[in-house]
Amino acid sequence: MSDNMKEKKEMYILGIESSCDETSAAIVKNGTEEIATVISSQIDIHKEYGGVVPEIASRHHVKNITIVLEECLKKANMKMEDIDAIAITYGPGLIGSLLIGLEAAKTLAFIYHKPLIPVHHIAGHIYANSLVEELKFPLLAVVVSGGHTELIEMKGHYQFQKLGGTLDDAIGECYDKVARVLGLEYPGGPKIDKLAKLGKNTYDLPVPLNDDSYNFSFSGLKSAVINLVHKEEQKGKKINKEDLAASFQNVAVKSITTKVKKAIIEKKMKTVIIAGGVAANQVLREEIKKVTDELHVKLSIPPIQYCTDNATMIAAAGYYAYLDGRVADLTLNSKSQDKLN
Ligand code: KG4
Ligand code: ZN
Repeated sequence: MSDNMKEKKEMYILGIESSCDETSAAIVKNGTEEIATVISSQIDIHKEYGGVVPEIASRHHVKNITIVLEECLKKANMKMEDIDAIAITYGPGLIGSLLIGLEAAKTLAFIYHKPLIPVHHIAGHIYANSLVEELKFPLLAVVVSGGHTELIEMKGHYQFQKLGGTLDDAIGECYDKVARVLGLEYPGGPKIDKLAKLGKNTYDLPVPLNDDSYNFSFSGLKSAVINLVHKEEQKGKKINKEDLAASFQNVAVKSITTKVKKAIIEKKMKTVIIAGGVAANQVLREEIKKVTDELHVKLSIPPIQYCTDNATMIAAAGYYAYLDGRVADLTLNSKSQDKLN
């Protein structure tokens, strides 16, 4: 950390996120206060294909990145000279998409002589919570997104210890695939969430990996739903989509809350936070709240707009990464896979 930075009371970080289908830039003060944010989503483009097409995503990031950056600075009424550091999602994610954001960040860091802070995408999702309130440790982060399902223990800022994770599909991926078989548009998570409210838990589905570990498994549940739909179709029977959505969601959420409860008790957690796109799920929020209330621990959930991919969370995480001494040079590369540490 440069002495100049250490002395500064106010630190403005420009965050850039482009790991999947959102091109986003944001400016955050001291890791907690959003000054400006711009998100350009490609959902409508990928809907047509039933999921994100990597090559198409990269092309749109190229088209959007400078516009998003310019708009963000304009919204904040700031110039690049007013920015203290640049935080960038280096991974994990789609490599072509990640590279667009990374090259933009590196170019700005080089031209304006700004520190470059590498941020792991999941650290971003976790630190979305620091925009709501100060994180208190020891903390259990329940990471539930389109690409991840993990339980992370944090004993302090930027100290990540993975307790367990999915052995196959991520929960969001499972939501999206089940939605597809029910004829719902991408991204399916929010649509299942809505549909489930109209249905009842009537279909018998297997509870995945009901064991003593902190791990999860969603591929069996996904296959069970797909098989059930196909079998009913073959018999010429009509599926009750609302009931199937409710039954699926009941099992998916239960498999998360069971392990969350176990982790709180065994690891003596004081706080639980939910992070990632699936944290927007109403039932998951309610069921985790029941567990934390029962065990008298604090629960923090980011507002819906900070649950799915955005650069505000990257700038927020970037602040704490910076305080932890994490600064990269211009050889920084994107990684499609990387451990959170
Ligand atoms: O965190 P995110 O924006 O992207 C990744 O980093 O993966 O998460 C996207 C995922 C998608 O699978 C989407 O279907 C799911 O989050 N999702 C939801 C809800 N809102 C978004 N899943 C269930 N219920 C929701 N309300
Ligand atoms: Zn994400």
